[in-house]
Amino acid sequence: MTAVSPVVGHTIHNFETVDSTQAVLAHLAADRVLEGTVVVARHQTAGRGSHGRWWWDAPGESLMFSVLLRPTVPIARAPQLSLVSGVAVVDAFRACCHVDARIRWPNDVLIDGKKVCGVLPEALSSADGRVSHVLLGIGINVDQRAFPSELRNTATSLLLATGVAHDHARLLSATLADLDRRYGEWLRSGFADLRLEWRKRAGMLGQRVHMRDGGEGIAIDVDDTGALLIDAGRGALTRVVSAMTDPGEASA
Ligand code: BTN
Repeated sequence: MTAVSPVVGHTIHNFETVDSTQAVLAHLAADRVLEGTVVVARHQTAGRGSHGRWWWDAPGESLMFSVLLRPTVPIARAPQLSLVSGVAVVDAFRACCHVDARIRWPNDVLIDGKKVCGVLPEALSSADGRVSHVLLGIGINVDQRAFPSELRNTATSLLLATGVAHDHARLLSATLADLDRRYGEWLRSGFADLRLEWRKRAGMLGQRVHMRDGGEGIAIDVDDTGALLIDAGRGALTRVVSAMTDPGEASA
């Protein structure tokens, strides 16, 4: 079989400090760099988290990178990439760090209930309703021995979870390789099989979840679009869609 060269990670730009790898990659994307280009930084001064929050890091302790994807699909399919990236991260952690991580919808990665990795997908659409590009930002807590007080109860690192240090370069290449493989599957075959893979790695199905609008219920599944299905009781099924941020809106 002919080897297919990887799309993800063919070119990696390494930085010591940036405001946000998402912002740096957005500039490169505007300059029409190739799909699969990656920006990595040892420290971010304005790291972006989901829902307009900041992403905290201490220099050198986290693996933080952004990947440029240009899938030519309708923008409505883009949120599936959130779930696909969660699958890739869990597999990379297993292969590289021998640790069993779980996904909290859509793409937080947790070990023993604490967050070790966050994924921020920011999509730009074109006038015809298709994806122009996606900036997939991934932040992994690798070497932290302690967290600021506001994160202490909810965050962990690979070091804390496994008791050993992990090589950033090895972890980056494992994550990019898994992302490349899963992204290829998604482009070729769609979301149906990856949805099953996501479910196998999910840590929240069957559990009570709280919605951003104040409601709550039991998370029962993800549907074939990647939306979370919540049983809110008395026969009411709520469907929660993971929004993709427009990079223009996301700067903190
Ligand atoms: C989340 O809040 O869970 C998403 C966090 C995403 C953080 C990563 S770190 C690399 C990339 N650059 C950013 O500014 N954010 C993402």
